[in-house]
Amino acid sequence: MPSLLPPHAHLLFGPDQIQERVKALAGEIDSVYKNLDLVVVGVLKGAVHFVSDLLRGMTLDPCVEWVRVSTYREGTTAVSGSLIHFVGDLELVGKDVLVADDILDSGRTYQTLNPALLERNPARVRWAFLLEKEGACERAGFQPDFVGFHVPEAWVVGYGLDLAEKYRNLAGIYALEQTEDR
Ligand code: IMP
Ligand code: MG
Repeated sequence: MPSLLPPHAHLLFGPDQIQERVKALAGEIDSVYKNLDLVVVGVLKGAVHFVSDLLRGMTLDPCVEWVRVSTYREGTTAVSGSLIHFVGDLELVGKDVLVADDILDSGRTYQTLNPALLERNPARVRWAFLLEKEGACERAGFQPDFVGFHVPEAWVVGYGLDLAEKYRNLAGIYALEQTEDR
């Protein structure tokens, strides 16, 4: 049974629209990486559905690796940072790397992970985001190579994206409206 919708949610993109867009992105990616040694690095957990549909939409047969980037904050004193957990050994020397993430928001994930990937001497690293939040490119200071959809500056859930670990299994993508209690 699908999970209940969160309160104050409105649909941004339905399942068919998402499938169609991800399939189109897969086609773009196919043409960019033709004849190259591609490794897709999926960012856990939010990009699981995106990576899975992207791979099934591609005609290339890339290696797939996974990474988890956790950001943490300590107390109220702006002590914060990010931790990278690679799943297995990431052998990237000379490879073309495509990082697939769920959403570009502050750019912290990109700023943390991109240098760590470059240290492994790949041929090149590109980034694909399913979603780009309004104003994110300015906040992040970079322009992603592939973007599925642009979304307003609201919290979004579904198709892998969560709110406190819920709603990842929704087939559509929903924006949560700001309410007094949130
Ligand atoms: P960043 O701020 O660009 O580093 O994005 C950090 C991560 O926060 C994303 O990869 C998502 O996992 C999560 N995130 C940011 N905005 C949202 C949102 O609106 N819904 C769900 N997750 C989000
Ligand atoms: Mg993420």
